Amino acid sequence: MTSKLTTLLFSLINLTSAYTPLSDASLSLIPSGSSDFDPLSGALLSPILIPRVPGTPGSETAQHHFVNFFRTHLPDWTVQWHNSTATTPATGNKQVPFRNLIFRRDPPWATEGDVARLTLVAHYDSLYKPEGFIGAIDSAVPCALLLHVARSVEEALRRKWVGMGEGDGLGEEVGVQVVLLDGEEAWVTWTDEDSLYGARKGCWDGILTSNRALAESWAGEGNGAGTFSTQMESISLFVLLDLLGSANPTIPSYFAKTHWAYEHMATAERRLRKLGLLETKEAKPFLPDLQKKSYQFTMGYVLDDHVPFMERGVDVLHVIPTPFPPVWHTMDDDGAHLDISTIRDWAKIVTTFVAEWMDLDGLLPPLASAEKPNKGGHEKEEL
Ligand SMILES: *[C@@H]1O[C@H](CO)[C@@H](O)[C@H](O)[C@H]1NC(C)=O
Ligand SMILES: [Zn+2]
Repeated sequence: MTSKLTTLLFSLINLTSAYTPLSDASLSLIPSGSSDFDPLSGALLSPILIPRVPGTPGSETAQHHFVNFFRTHLPDWTVQWHNSTATTPATGNKQVPFRNLIFRRDPPWATEGDVARLTLVAHYDSLYKPEGFIGAIDSAVPCALLLHVARSVEEALRRKWVGMGEGDGLGEEVGVQVVLLDGEEAWVTWTDEDSLYGARKGCWDGILTSNRALAESWAGEGNGAGTFSTQMESISLFVLLDLLGSANPTIPSYFAKTHWAYEHMATAERRLRKLGLLETKEAKPFLPDLQKKSYQFTMGYVLDDHVPFMERGVDVLHVIPTPFPPVWHTMDDDGAHLDISTIRDWAKIVTTFVAEWMDLDGLLPPLASAEKPNKGGHEKEEL
């Protein structure tokens, strides 16, 4: 009884994440991804700059890229598939497969039902029409960014958790997951039915169900039912990246409810800029709404993969530019129209946000030599 209560109290404290800003020294250790975001040869991005229509070979290539990346470089991250099928207005009676991928890193001692997870999300499918559409900003780049972020915090997470055994870890049940969603795009025109196939359809309900079953079996084994009865509740913040990779983005703060999280990311950007650690030198920040007041929020937002989650009460930080970049949903949304400096700056901004959320100050390893300034990693690439 007592110990259970203690666990519960500690866990409740976790719900307000102990967000700790990185020191200037730690900020200088945040990697940019260097040439890995090169559209022609970059290890993270170039393999997925292909059409990725659900149920086609390009979609499978992207899935393999993600799974192989985690298996090879981040073996401590668990991999889960969430598979479903649906008909679409463009494909008649055919059941089109949709496959969401979830890569998860929890504290090693933690019981699954107790972990609050920072949830980093992008969609990897591309538009069905126009034929040959690539979707570089929509959303190959956001997916590649999330692989980079996971890789960039792994060593610090390991260092942090290695010293925290069972018991010491109380109050630290904070994990992180990367969710790569399929079927965001409409096949004909955007409607509630023709969109968000991956985020909306049975697959996520599937996890809810299986998690309940899991929680019940744990209860039966005397592990307690956990703090969170569903995967949905265990999402501490749903950070959705979309349409990133074009130059000069402007990302508004969309939601008063999560403006505090926006402020954290915008502050990270401001500090990185001030320290000369970002490559883009425009006067305008990517995240300009640092001073937005509660009465300035409108009801307007962009329909995207967060909607089914937000409707179920999940807190959302939507990192998507308004206005959309001019290449949006055109054949020009390809590798040639990306701005690598902007992508690498996003890589640092999002990695910093995650490192601060996960409390990694002082734990980041030295930069790889390719990342060091003046060693070939930071020149502006000609596209
Ligand atoms: C989901 O689909 C993938 C790719 O087709 C397959 O490898 C995996 O085994 C499937 N998983 C489940 C749980 O059905
Ligand atoms: Zn799109």
